[in-house]
Amino acid sequence: MNERQLKKAKSKIKGKERRAALKAERARLSAAQLLVNQANSLPDPLSKFPSFHKYERNGLSCQLICKRVKEVEPVMMQWAIDLCKRNMRGMYVKSSQGWHEDEKREEMTEDAAWYLFAIDTLSEKPIAFSHFRFDIDYGDEVLYCYELQLEMDCRNKGLGKFMMQVLELMAFSNQMQKVVLTVFKHNPDGMAFFRKCRYETDETSPEDTFEESFDYSILSKSNKMKPTQKTSL
Ligand SMILES: CC(C)(COP(=O)(O)OP(=O)(O)OC[C@H]1O[C@@H](n2cnc3c(N)ncnc32)[C@H](O)[C@@H]1OP(=O)(O)O)[C@@H](O)C(=O)NCCC(=O)NCCS
Repeated sequence: MNERQLKKAKSKIKGKERRAALKAERARLSAAQLLVNQANSLPDPLSKFPSFHKYERNGLSCQLICKRVKEVEPVMMQWAIDLCKRNMRGMYVKSSQGWHEDEKREEMTEDAAWYLFAIDTLSEKPIAFSHFRFDIDYGDEVLYCYELQLEMDCRNKGLGKFMMQVLELMAFSNQMQKVVLTVFKHNPDGMAFFRKCRYETDETSPEDTFEESFDYSILSKSNKMKPTQKTSL
């Protein structure tokens, strides 16, 4: 075999390898989408876990319920939007995004949204919520936590951590690769809380450069039972 033939044979092998890798990546993506669709088609991803339907600790007594956005009563949605505004408006104003209530409402009411609510047992009023989604993020099947918001007088009683554990349970029992979330760098309490819950900087979190800096970080917790199957293309 002369040099030209050798080069040709090598590039043929490379082409074959690349096509095989592309095929494997396509198969992985469609398997990921299937898992996301399956999770989204559940009537209630929390129903299988009755021991996580209540939180009774540190003076709190509440019920945990999980709903698809279309099942959330308008009054409940308005409370969630108001709580988000009370808790987060200042942080959004400080960020490059700014606070845009209409956009937040639109995001919180999109069809893909799921809600986890904590309802006080005595007053029957909501005291905390998480907006989350089963979704594909950078090619991975994930549970994305868009919001975790607690009323002021319910904080520091372990409820936030418990709600994150519930999200992880719903994510990993539905074979999601990880739980992902975005947190402002100028939210030190939120950042400390998620670090305490063992969330780490995600590989997709943007890194500051000389030209550009970011006022948020992306954190995640991986499903230890599910090693990543990403192919290197
Ligand atoms: C951040 C938030 C969700 C935390 O929920 P919480 O119920 O108050 O937190 P918990 O009581 O479950 O705390 C869990 C752990 O985190 C630690 N923690 C919580 N806040 C902390 C802080 N500011 N600094 C250091 N540790 C903190 C707790 O000490 C606790 O540690 P432990 O497990 O060793 O006991 C809640 O305070 C909140 O709603 N804040 C406003 C909205 C917000 O910033 N949301 C997050 C960004 S979307």
